[in-house]
Amino acid sequence: MEKEDLMEKIIALCKRRGFIFAGSEIYGGLANTYDYGPAGTELLRNIRNLWWDNFVHKRDDVVGLDASIISHQEIWRASGHTSGFADAMIDCKNCKLRMRADHLIEDITKENVEGKDLKKLDKIIQENAKIICPNCGKYNWTKVRKFNLLFPVNLGIVEGDQSLAYLRGETAQGMFVNFRNVVDSSRVKLPFGIAQVGKSFRNEITPGNSVFRTLEFEPAEIEYFFDPKEQNWEKLFEEWKNEMWNFVVKTLGVNENNLRWREHGNKERSFYSKKTEDLEYKFPFGFKELWGLAYRTDYDLLQHVKFSKKDLSIIDSKTGKKIVPHVIEPAVGINRLLLMVISDAYSEEEERIVLKINPRLASYKVAVFPLLANKPELVKKAKNIYENLRKNFVTVFDGRGNIGKRYFAQDEVGTPFCITVDFQTLEDDTVTIRDRDTMKQERVKTSKLADIIKVKIA
Ligand code: GAP
Repeated sequence: MEKEDLMEKIIALCKRRGFIFAGSEIYGGLANTYDYGPAGTELLRNIRNLWWDNFVHKRDDVVGLDASIISHQEIWRASGHTSGFADAMIDCKNCKLRMRADHLIEDITKENVEGKDLKKLDKIIQENAKIICPNCGKYNWTKVRKFNLLFPVNLGIVEGDQSLAYLRGETAQGMFVNFRNVVDSSRVKLPFGIAQVGKSFRNEITPGNSVFRTLEFEPAEIEYFFDPKEQNWEKLFEEWKNEMWNFVVKTLGVNENNLRWREHGNKERSFYSKKTEDLEYKFPFGFKELWGLAYRTDYDLLQHVKFSKKDLSIIDSKTGKKIVPHVIEPAVGINRLLLMVISDAYSEEEERIVLKINPRLASYKVAVFPLLANKPELVKKAKNIYENLRKNFVTVFDGRGNIGKRYFAQDEVGTPFCITVDFQTLEDDTVTIRDRDTMKQERVKTSKLADIIKVKIA
């Protein structure tokens, strides 16, 4: 299958089955915004909960945080976002599309231009008439310019600098500015992490590729604080690499042949980072960053010490010394994980499209059907089974159309188990349970259903 074709098919399936819709669609859409439908909301929630369970609940060295989205302008001055965190952008003079210059060049030339300055990016575009606008096909560009990625908000009724705040561009800064609060209010000891998942906003524009890069997204980040004199950062870095890989492969059930690590070169890496590696996934549009891992040293905390003039140190319980810890940061977007999960699970078989999604992640775990919708005794029994199962699993009831159409719909949404109530059910209280991937059916006692499904999902 052509790569573009595959992406188009995935986007169509996402709309058809209620995973992802274009944002503000009935008003003509709003570029780079998306809404999640009933199936997408469940999937997003399952991924988010698994991430939290794996990295917070199952560890005794990580605690959670939920910081404010609207945040003080000084946070972003200290972090460098309002000065350095600006992307090189370019506008199409013909159709007014604005996009990142590096992405435009890379998509067309396949050349890696990470780390190149404005002048160099401009020169590449000026010297290559093949770099046409992906929206209108014209070659009519402005100069490459820096563009602030943070969304400003004006608070209160007084306009001006005093009331200026920003929507956060990442969750990471919330962990740094609350470092003192977390240390003082919980019994954390180095090394420990603070984790956060939450909406963040970046005024960046890249067309296409669904929810891969959007204005509004949901990073899931951990700042893992440690004393570099006590802990070998290279060892910690390797441990985090394993954690990330295992989460994607074992917990989310993604094919590891579609994953690879890529280390940032000197030019690409942020100046404060000693080492950065991206876990990349092979999306239908190529290998792209899924999850970043960076050793950010003590840069962020020291910046906030400098700007806030507050003490952001901790006493190392082993050495008794006061230190400003260093930090390793694994940062991923929940939305990008969702796009990976759907891309990885999408498969076409002879007469059906099926999302072979890990049952743990599936939006709906079970679907219950009466064999015939016009036989009240079958419908009543099926409703009864449905009511029982939904106490334990996210379950749907479907009495529309024929049984083939119902299987077809559930396969596309990725429901792992379909239960059919037929005439034999009324005689011996057994039902058929159909496996999404093998399409095999087995007949089981209704009293055993919940236990059987529990085992299959575990
Ligand atoms: N604090 C570090 C940080 O924010 P990042 O590489 O800019 O690092 C982390 O973002 C992760 O968030 C990325 O690896 C990606 O999964 C996701 N992400 C970043 N920008 C995004 C966007 N505009 N839309 C969707 N996901 C995004």
